[in-house]
Amino acid sequence: MSSFRNFVLALAATFFAPWLCLIVIPHAKMKAQDIEVWEDKQLGTKSSYPAGTPNIFRQGQAIYAREGCALCHTQMIRPTYLGFESWRPGFGKAGTRDNPVRIRETLPGDFSGERFAYLGVQRVGPDLSNAGYRHDEDWHHVHLYDPRSKRDFSVMPSFRHLYTRRKVRGQRAKGALALAGQLDPGKGFEVVPTEAARALVGYLMTLKKDTPLPPAAGEQTQTPVAPAGADKVKKG
Ligand code: HEC
Repeated sequence: MSSFRNFVLALAATFFAPWLCLIVIPHAKMKAQDIEVWEDKQLGTKSSYPAGTPNIFRQGQAIYAREGCALCHTQMIRPTYLGFESWRPGFGKAGTRDNPVRIRETLPGDFSGERFAYLGVQRVGPDLSNAGYRHDEDWHHVHLYDPRSKRDFSVMPSFRHLYTRRKVRGQRAKGALALAGQLDPGKGFEVVPTEAARALVGYLMTLKKDTPLPPAAGEQTQTPVAPAGADKVKKG
């Protein structure tokens, strides 16, 4: 009988320990996190961490979830002892000598205010943690409409269903996509983004997970210095 009791106790412990370490303790830690506001005397700026999320973020994130972007894209820069991402060109904002590159590992607070953290599962496409720095809105729209028009090697699927082809009424719409060649919608026609596409691109433009950290936490997580040539990141 006692071996049965031991078995039940061991079984209970097997479930209890991970639950405690992976759910209860992290949850309590995250909940206790306050918004910290501080002044950088050198730069004369006021910063806060976590920084919060703008409105467009929620709408766009819902589309990001719906379209399954997180199946191919991550939003997570690992600490430098686990990978070299912090130095990879294109992962963050390219800097100059006076204003060094702002790339740092992703921290739990970066997702504060989000209902779900889209960390992603695998990197078929590039990490999007700091995608907001890399392209402008027009680039994103054309890329979503036809990824291969921007990069001929792309395996990213086209998200054409987020766009409408319609007859030009009077003047061309302001947000109409600049498409050429094979993609040209035809004379008298234009391709315009739907609400969903606009929200999605709005969301992509806000992706800048490099908010400066409060001084105390900042000491622990060193900001990596720009690699040579990081300011010459190729824009496709
Ligand atoms: C099947 C995998 C796959 C899916 C699903 C996918 N992507 Fe991609 N994505 C890629 C690949 C591969 C690239 C790199 C080639 C390229 O730029 O097209 C890429 C590139 C990108 C880039 C350019 C990144 C950069 O640094 O230049 C953005 C932005 C992007 N994807 C956004 C999205 C969004 C938004 C969605 C969902 C609507 C999505 N992707 C869905 C595979 C995917």
